[in-house]
Amino acid sequence: MIEKIRVDLGERSYPIVVGSGAWGRIKEHLEGRTPSGTALVTDDRVGSLYGDTLLQVLSGADPNPLVITVPQGENSKSFDQLEYICRKMAKAGIEREGLVLALGGGVVGDLAGLAASTYLRGIRLIQVPTTLLSMVDSSVGGKTGINIPEGKNLVGTFFQPEAVFADVESLRTLDDRDWYSGLAEAVKIAITLDTDLFEYLESARDLGPGGGIDISRVILAACLRKADVVRRDEKEEGIRRVLNFGHTIAHGFEAALGYGEIRHGEAVALGMKAALRLSQDACGLSREHFERAMALLERIPVPEVNMHPKEIEPFLKRDKKSVGGTVQAVLVSAIGKSEFLPLMEPDLLLSALAEPGKREGRENDSVTD
Ligand SMILES: NC(=O)c1ccc[n+]([C@@H]2O[C@H](COP(=O)([O-])OP(=O)(O)OC[C@H]3O[C@@H](n4cnc5c(N)ncnc54)[C@H](O)[C@@H]3O)[C@@H](O)[C@H]2O)c1
Repeated sequence: MIEKIRVDLGERSYPIVVGSGAWGRIKEHLEGRTPSGTALVTDDRVGSLYGDTLLQVLSGADPNPLVITVPQGENSKSFDQLEYICRKMAKAGIEREGLVLALGGGVVGDLAGLAASTYLRGIRLIQVPTTLLSMVDSSVGGKTGINIPEGKNLVGTFFQPEAVFADVESLRTLDDRDWYSGLAEAVKIAITLDTDLFEYLESARDLGPGGGIDISRVILAACLRKADVVRRDEKEEGIRRVLNFGHTIAHGFEAALGYGEIRHGEAVALGMKAALRLSQDACGLSREHFERAMALLERIPVPEVNMHPKEIEPFLKRDKKSVGGTVQAVLVSAIGKSEFLPLMEPDLLLSALAEPGKREGRENDSVTD
């Protein structure tokens, strides 16, 4: 079954089409406004799996699309790859009415989105997410970005796509690790905004791929919440900051460990556990809700991170939400109810990384949960 929801942003509103066979709707969408040229941007892995299928889908609208392939992985969110894409499009003569079709996970979506938003000061963009993470989160809402050594996503734009097509069939080829990484972002939405989604995930016997959860239901629930948040606060000046739950620490780990060493969702899971610990002290999160949220997070496998929490401090200070060296964190006062905490010293956030019994003598701590 295919379902459609809408991100309501006035003239820039757009559909999110979710379900088995969703890619079949791309042609119909393009029939209303045929692009003058199309760049299909993908990574080498997704391109080899689904490039031909997408070319077939596009053939009615554009008989000769330009395929641009970047290496898979977080390191492709770079100025080098951005330049590569833009130069390829320029050489091929892609014009203002041209279209970028981003086929891949969050990496391709963020990178191709940035290319679409800056090339010729902005051309058309369609997101075709192929990872669970990109379906539940990154393909919706218009954030684009690349990383620099000083920090994650420090260069980017807000640029909404004109449509999102999430075909859940493509998830069949996803690695388990990437499945769980995407699930972490769905859990984030559940803990901060959606008690129904939380209870659904909590009650599932097996959260793994093929484990029986209705993944279209999870994607739709997450997209509905995100669409609502984006409608209310497109540029992240208020409520949208809630979606950063766990992310200040996550971005710190990703940058400090070296991009690609830890999956984004895995890092977010670590960050959410710290935020939950802090939420008990600072936000009155009850023991029951703390334990339930932690129990759900425990079901997302995360590799051991051998790093002293202090090593991520410089990255916390450079986080986009930081002000004058102090950091901001999103906390929760109950499952489904998020709070935006005022600025705090990075040390407070870092101290929550260790389990309570381990909070003293952090010199030898590594982060293991
Ligand atoms: N823009 C936003 O709002 C937003 C939100 C959350 C995360 N992000 C960004 O998203 C990125 C992470 O995205 P991701 O987890 O999708 O990573 P990713 O794009 O690197 O994909 C993970 C791996 O899965 C492979 N892959 C993708 N689809 C596949 C499929 N269907 N079958 C088999 N393999 C497939 C890719 O080639 C890659 O090796 C991070 O850079 C993060 O910062 C952005």
